[in-house]
Amino acid sequence: MKARVTAHARYIIADIDKRLYGSFLEHLGRAVYTGIYEPDHPTADSSGMRQDVIDLVRGLDTPICRYPGGNFVSAYNWEDGIGPKEDRPTRLDLAWHTSESNQVGIHEFADWAEKANTEMMLAVNLGSRGLDEARAFLEYVNHEGGTYWSDLRRKNGRADPWDVKVWCLGNEMDGPWQVGAKSAAEYGHLANETAKAMRAYDQSLELIVCGSSGPGMTTFPEWEATVLDHTYENVDHISLHMYFENYEKNTAEFLALPEKLDRYIGTVSGVIDYIKGKKRSSKTVGISFDEWNVWYHERENDMERIKDWGWPHAPALLEDIYNFEDVLQVGCILNTFIRRSDVVRMACIAQLVNVIAPIMTAPGGAAWKQTIYYPFQFASLYGRGTALQLDVDSLTYNADVAAGVSYLDISGVHDATNGTLTFFAVNRSADEPLEIDLEIEGFGTAKTVEHTLIKHQDLEAKNTKNNPNNVKPEVGGGAKLSGGKLSLSVPSLSYSMIRVQL
Ligand code: AHR
Repeated sequence: MKARVTAHARYIIADIDKRLYGSFLEHLGRAVYTGIYEPDHPTADSSGMRQDVIDLVRGLDTPICRYPGGNFVSAYNWEDGIGPKEDRPTRLDLAWHTSESNQVGIHEFADWAEKANTEMMLAVNLGSRGLDEARAFLEYVNHEGGTYWSDLRRKNGRADPWDVKVWCLGNEMDGPWQVGAKSAAEYGHLANETAKAMRAYDQSLELIVCGSSGPGMTTFPEWEATVLDHTYENVDHISLHMYFENYEKNTAEFLALPEKLDRYIGTVSGVIDYIKGKKRSSKTVGISFDEWNVWYHERENDMERIKDWGWPHAPALLEDIYNFEDVLQVGCILNTFIRRSDVVRMACIAQLVNVIAPIMTAPGGAAWKQTIYYPFQFASLYGRGTALQLDVDSLTYNADVAAGVSYLDISGVHDATNGTLTFFAVNRSADEPLEIDLEIEGFGTAKTVEHTLIKHQDLEAKNTKNNPNNVKPEVGGGAKLSGGKLSLSVPSLSYSMIRVQL
């Protein structure tokens, strides 16, 4: 099968905000305890953080990390996680039916984030708590000193404020499962008042208001319209979440789901424009897609187990083991974000360690890369610069979720600083390789090309503790440059990264 692609220097979408490659770490399952934090682990540093995990996180170069939830945040008291560790209370975590020891709190997470080379995105609890807790937390985290909360931080061992810029106003407040879930009007009012108070402290904060927890919510997209109507002038981003499932084991349908993602972004972008127009506003709210991933492998089992498992501390939960098929899906999702980078300014893979995550750990043992580590890593490292508006001519197929799904899913990024063009391509066809002709126009001379391929004959192939390199990138064969033209063949059901040095 043939496909033709044209990249032209003048056809651009947007400058990509590097925070498109953000991540998320929640107090959930083993994400924190025996994930990033395990004081008895052989690689643990003096604060109990696993160095082997930090190394893998640094390998992803994820510029921002959302914390501490997720559903967890909606019944969380951040004050439980400060002060001497022996005095911290153990609490019930109502979101995941577990116990929270609070041995990791804001100080430990902030230290870890610095070591992992990632900025913090903090969420405030607008479920069981509200404005007062949010302003106290902000003062604790960002104020220099001389006030109750900032002096308490200093007393607890941190002299300098952390100066966190990006704050989430609650989590999934539209979800009936959320502790303290609200109607759009209730939440819109509370989020706006909280945003006003936080801005009264610092105008330059970037505030994220909750959009829908998925396009399947019955309140979508009216939720976005109502919430933005209340908050438009006081927030910077609206948060969206989406998880991808393949219970039916139908690869063609599964790989078409990013079309739904694209529509979801398009609809919310339209709602933003509508409210902007209604308010006669000159500012444009962006989208923070701060939870996304494949999530279904363990989902139903987990929800069954939770019901009667008491209140364990840091049990294995939501530990999806990803396969090769998921590499293709994550590649297509990231391509969608790159193509929508004009409106999606930030996005966070959910999550980072052990819980629906690219990184897995064994307590007391190894840490390894799940299959999906690679497409995320490639996008994060090489998908920075200007997103290109590619002209793509490829055969298509019809899926339940959308008609005309292109067999070739591709995005392109121009990094003018390093003089590179990078293309991320997924061949969705189960039957045929794709012979791609790619014309490169207006960028100057293309000098060299490198092709990195991820392909496995078994869609179910996984990376495990005992076989951590089962699915991994390899050097692709046969990408050729001639004049301004690049040609290559990509195998059926495969992921490719093609990098051109200009
Ligand atoms: O990432 C897992 C959970 O999914 C989060 O806690 C919640 O926000 C979403 O429903």
